[in-house]
Amino acid sequence: MHGSSAQTLQRRPFRLDARDRLSVRGEWFAGKPLSTQFLNAYTLLIPEGERFIIRTCRRYLDHADAGLREDLSRLFFQEGGHSREHRRVLAHMRKEGLGLDLFRHLVERISYRLLEKLSPSKLRLATAAAIEHHNAAIADFFLRQDLLREIRSVEIRRLFLWHFAEEIEHKEVVFKLLQRVSDSRLLRAAGLFASWATFLFYLAVGAMLLGLKTRAIFAGAFWRELVLHCGVRDGLLVVLVKESLRYLRADFHPRVETSRDLLGSALAELERLGVMGPRPRLISKMPVAFQKKMLPILNRVRSLRPVAPYFEAAIGEYDGAWVQNEGVRKLNFCTYSYLGLLRHPHIQEAARQAIERYGTGTHGVRLLGGNLELHDELEARIATFFNREAAITFSSGFMTNLAVISSLVGRGDHVLSDRLNHASIVDGCRLSGAEVVRFKHNDMLDLANRLGRLPEDARKLIVVDAVYSMDGNIAPIQELISLRDRHPNTLLMVDEAHSLGVLGPKGRGVEEHFDCVGQIDVLMGCLSKAVPAQGGYIAGTRDMITYLRFNARGFVYSAALSPAVAAAALAAFELIGREGAARRSRLMSNVRYFIQRLRNANFDIGNSASAIVPILLGSEALAFDLARRCNLEGLYATPVTHPVVPKGAERLRMNVTCDHRWKDLDFAIKVLQRSRTAEIARAA
Ligand SMILES: Cc1ncc(COP(=O)(O)O)c(C=O)c1O
Repeated sequence: MHGSSAQTLQRRPFRLDARDRLSVRGEWFAGKPLSTQFLNAYTLLIPEGERFIIRTCRRYLDHADAGLREDLSRLFFQEGGHSREHRRVLAHMRKEGLGLDLFRHLVERISYRLLEKLSPSKLRLATAAAIEHHNAAIADFFLRQDLLREIRSVEIRRLFLWHFAEEIEHKEVVFKLLQRVSDSRLLRAAGLFASWATFLFYLAVGAMLLGLKTRAIFAGAFWRELVLHCGVRDGLLVVLVKESLRYLRADFHPRVETSRDLLGSALAELERLGVMGPRPRLISKMPVAFQKKMLPILNRVRSLRPVAPYFEAAIGEYDGAWVQNEGVRKLNFCTYSYLGLLRHPHIQEAARQAIERYGTGTHGVRLLGGNLELHDELEARIATFFNREAAITFSSGFMTNLAVISSLVGRGDHVLSDRLNHASIVDGCRLSGAEVVRFKHNDMLDLANRLGRLPEDARKLIVVDAVYSMDGNIAPIQELISLRDRHPNTLLMVDEAHSLGVLGPKGRGVEEHFDCVGQIDVLMGCLSKAVPAQGGYIAGTRDMITYLRFNARGFVYSAALSPAVAAAALAAFELIGREGAARRSRLMSNVRYFIQRLRNANFDIGNSASAIVPILLGSEALAFDLARRCNLEGLYATPVTHPVVPKGAERLRMNVTCDHRWKDLDFAIKVLQRSRTAEIARAA
């Protein structure tokens, strides 16, 4: 299917409009009380049902070839989206007294706590394939009869159009996976039976219960609809029975192609209602010279997608140490929210108030109309926090390094940069036009030698990360300061992206950690990590900051931070002062615990001494495979490979936060150990 499906089965993001009231009481349909309650019941079952499909198929990824894996990874993306958006509708249903909590909890207990645990995994896969087949038949029915057109709420219409269009494609993908695992017709029949006994049965019971709750069953129209569905040639029940019989035939093979026209019209309608249709294949329209430039990267991305789907796996929701990823709740080891401040109510409230007061954007650069009192307040707070005269903010951490390095040094100057510095520093050095001298990572002898060869009267900028983002180790700041002091005309710049809030008794970063506050000339940091907002800053002398305000092009020519972002950052600095100590103490105790346990379990974690803990693996294949196994078992972890790290230094990077509990960390280590054992067994 993967050649033919490219037009439709894709990562098409969809979100319900949050402003819509999404009323789900009987008024969706004009005069279709049973169908309304049927779709309501469908929504009740979808959030958990889709997760079951994802869990089940993930177990068998090993059986899929590259093409099928790619289709499955898109299917996970879509099913995760269905689960998320139906959960939103479910929240409305509950508000309106239609959540059927008891029924839902019973279904969840029986199906996922009991039956799922008791049944063999092959039967679960056969059930998933049959459920997808039934799903597709229901979708086909609603689309073919054009029933969705009659839904009054545009948002609900969009939801079902989108969902049903995607469901039609899923039947082929999951069936193919089942065929790769087993082509037993008996198993297929068992799956079909399970789908009838659970999914379709629950749908029917749910629709009746909702009919009772909404009193729809007291209307004659409800029963007339029921009779039509049960007795008439193209009623829903009859369609499902026919489809089930077809499903049991030896030569059965589902084909999306048979529904191509239907899908086309559903997608066209979606586009009309404001959801992206299939994306045009831009590459074929590119001039050949540009195609040639893009091809190596595109080919690499295409070859990686099936084996490393986690690069693009979208997060549906953050929840402390957990994320919803493609509909599955996983422990998050991919976050920079080291202090757990993301979604902190104080920060959320500050952002909300800023939007109320200023709106969502600034429409201007700071020097020409974009300067808000809020920006001045934030910069004053940053300066005070770091015990400096002044501070300046930029629209991202990346932009800060780019703009500041290229403003401080230029042609004829020298910039000395650690080999493992962040890409934004590397690019800032390049952009500056200064001579770039790269010294060995954290090697002060090498730096001293290189500095010694440069003329005394030349301008020199030493630039390092405080904590290295891929390794978690710390730069030797005191030695750097003394080297800077021994060489005239030299400035020291330090990127505190991963140390702000994390290092130092008060979270003031690497200077505080090494007890040398105020010694770094150009103190750079990000507002996008422990501070859960966006942007970057420099703290330093008033003269230097004034110079940057009028000379750093990334400041002069780029719009000011949006009000919500600036307010969130300001509130976060307040919180780091107020709650930081307790959060940092939990974080550091987690870090020590995790590092020690990993070492005891013989994992190579390099010299990590911070919240970033790399599991060094040394091979891309191993990194992808371990990441896949971790994600299967509920750990959200991504591999880091070339060109982000050198070839041979591939790893899994696990970021620890204060929200993790020791039992979470123990669980992570167990999963890592199991994955490593499985990988060794496979390689042997
Ligand atoms: C060391 C370092 N500096 C700068 C940046 C860029 O920051 P931002 O994501 O805010 O652009 C990062 C991003 O991860 C980083 O790790």
